[in-house]
Amino acid sequence: MTILENISLREYNTFGVDCYAKRFVTINSFYELQQLLTSEKDFFLISGGSNMLLTQNIDKLVVLIDIKGVSIDKEDANSVYLTVNAGENWHNFVLWCISQDYGGLENLSLIPGNVGTCPIQNIGAYGVEVKDTITKVETIEITSGKLVTFSNSDCNFGYRNSIFKNEAKGKYILTAVSFKLSKNNHVLNTSYGAIETALKENNIVSPTIKDVSNAVIAIRQSKLPDPKEIGNSGSFFKNPVISNTLFNNIQKEHPTVPSYKISEDLVKVPAGWLIEQCGFKGKRFGDAGVHKNQALVLVNYGNATGKEIHKLAQEIQQTVMNNFNISLEIEVNVI
Ligand code: EPU
Repeated sequence: MTILENISLREYNTFGVDCYAKRFVTINSFYELQQLLTSEKDFFLISGGSNMLLTQNIDKLVVLIDIKGVSIDKEDANSVYLTVNAGENWHNFVLWCISQDYGGLENLSLIPGNVGTCPIQNIGAYGVEVKDTITKVETIEITSGKLVTFSNSDCNFGYRNSIFKNEAKGKYILTAVSFKLSKNNHVLNTSYGAIETALKENNIVSPTIKDVSNAVIAIRQSKLPDPKEIGNSGSFFKNPVISNTLFNNIQKEHPTVPSYKISEDLVKVPAGWLIEQCGFKGKRFGDAGVHKNQALVLVNYGNATGKEIHKLAQEIQQTVMNNFNISLEIEVNVI
């Protein structure tokens, strides 16, 4: 465990923003983490760097959690129970599950980031959220250095939300996540329109989990920029939930507004649609921009600073507020 000084974080955040860490350490094992906690309490944790926007240098010790390993805890005729260490890459883990014919994560293919951070924002796509398969989350409490396990219900999962974004924020280091996956009779979730279309286009009538994964990968590649090519952090905003009254007013002017019913009184509207209506889709301001295929994704074409991207986000929020009277909440952690 070597502490380095004055390290660029550009390759550690998928936005590719060039901020610096005053000190930087990579943690490869639980032992190293416990050792570190005996001397350091005030640090900045980093994992896949796929859900944050750095707007300043980090004056603290930056700790990269890179603990690897997957273990099978138990199996029965229908299910497998796995524990995956925090530093495993999410998409590689999903592909490995598919190669073993373990079902449940196929709709979450190609999501950037690491396993250790997937519970924090309860990653979700194409009708599935990771909370549907998580059995527990293992953490180390920073103040005591003790192992604390959160059951699925302890995590208080919600849409892009969990206890780790609320009361538990900053108090625990997530070290491993456990999943229950199916071994046979997989329950496929293909109701999301674009998945159905992709399967039909390939004449697939009884899809396997691999077929669903391939469909999701194709859809994501057609809509979302690859962070290795264009810096981004996926959806920058949450999809807002609004009242029926407000929705009906919007629908009068825009009869084709997409929506998902949440309850009798509430409707979720895609933030991407609102941002597109405000004219931002595909727009570029210096090296900061709004992606041309999905307006919910802000991008860094090369040398945008975090402050420039944040300024663009604030302009979008203000314009959506002025035009639709809707407050867009930022989903990415702005540092
Ligand atoms: N839309 C537009 N213009 C746009 C983007 C979207 O009109 O620029 C419309 C689409 O035509 C569609 C609707 O908005 O009618 C929904 O679009 P899409 O299917 O792309 O999904 P989304 O609601 O924009 C959410 C997640 C994505 C996830 C997709 C698929 C959030 C904040 N985002 O996006 O998650 O991949 O659904 O399930 O909930 C992420 O979190 O990083 C992410 C990419």
